Amino acid sequence: MKILVAGGTGLVGTELLKILAQRSNLHVTALVRRHPSPELCLEHIHYLPFNYENEQDFDKLVSESFDVVFCALGTTRKKAGSAQQFVKVDFEYPRRLIDALVSTLPLLCVVSSVGADRPSGLYLRTKAALEQHIMQSGMRYVILRPSLLLGARREFRLREWLAAKCSRPLQKILRSSLGGKSAIYAPIDAAEVARAMVIAALDHPPHSGGVILQGRDLLKH
Ligand SMILES: NC(=O)c1ccc[n+]([C@@H]2O[C@H](COP(=O)([O-])OP(=O)(O)OC[C@H]3O[C@@H](n4cnc5c(N)ncnc54)[C@H](OP(=O)(O)O)[C@@H]3O)[C@@H](O)[C@H]2O)c1
Repeated sequence: MKILVAGGTGLVGTELLKILAQRSNLHVTALVRRHPSPELCLEHIHYLPFNYENEQDFDKLVSESFDVVFCALGTTRKKAGSAQQFVKVDFEYPRRLIDALVSTLPLLCVVSSVGADRPSGLYLRTKAALEQHIMQSGMRYVILRPSLLLGARREFRLREWLAAKCSRPLQKILRSSLGGKSAIYAPIDAAEVARAMVIAALDHPPHSGGVILQGRDLLKH
C-alpha cells in the first residue's frame, strides 16, 4: 500500500509515522518542509522535501497513485504570524493536496477539531471549511475531531499548556461521562489520535462515503 503523510513532523504526525514505520506492508512517503536530521528519521519512511506553494511539487505526487493520504497539517495564528497565513496552512495547503490527488481517488484521513460542526471563530470556521471540501471531493474519507491534544511538543504553547494542566484531572470524568456528550471535550493524547487514524483508515476503512470520529467513537480506538 502506498501512503502519503502531510504534517508528519508535528505532534500527531510524528506519532502517526512511528506506527506506520512498524508496518512492513506499507510504502510511506512523508512530505516535509526540510529533510529531518538523520537521528530524527525513522527507518522505512521516505521523507520528501515539499513546498505547498509550488505547483510542480503537487504534480510530482499525482503519478504516485497513493492509496491513503493522511493529513495532520496545522499551525496556530500566533505561530503563522497572521490570520491569512493560518488559513493557508490549515485550509489552503490541505485543499491543494486534495485537489491535486482527487483524480487518483485515495482514501483521505484528516485531523480536524472538535467543534468543526458548530463553527465560530477563525479556527473552527477554517476547520469546517476544510471538512466541507473533503466531503464534497468525492473521495472516501475519515475525519477526526479531537479536543485538546496532549503530548510533548517541541515548542511551548502557553494556552495549550494551561488547558492541559486544568483539564488533565477531568480527562477521566469527561471520557466516562454518562451519555457521552462531554466526551467530545476530553483531552486526548496525540498518540491515541494517531492510532485511531491508522485503525480507521487502514484496518477498517469506509467502503464508501466517509466517517467522522469524535468523542466516544474517537476515544474507543
Ligand atoms: N493542538 C490541539 O490541541 C489541537 C486540538 C484539536 C485539533 N488540532 C488539529 O490537529 C492537527 C494536528 O495538530 P498538531 O498539534 O499535531 O500539529 P503541529 O504539531 O503544530 O504540526 C503541524 C504540522 O504541520 C506542518 N506545518 C505547519 N506550518 C507549515 C507550513 N507553513 N508549511 C508546511 N508545513 C507546515 C508542521 O511542519 P514543521 O514541523 O515543519 O513545522 C507539522 O508537520 C492540526 O490540524 C490541529 O489544528 C489540534
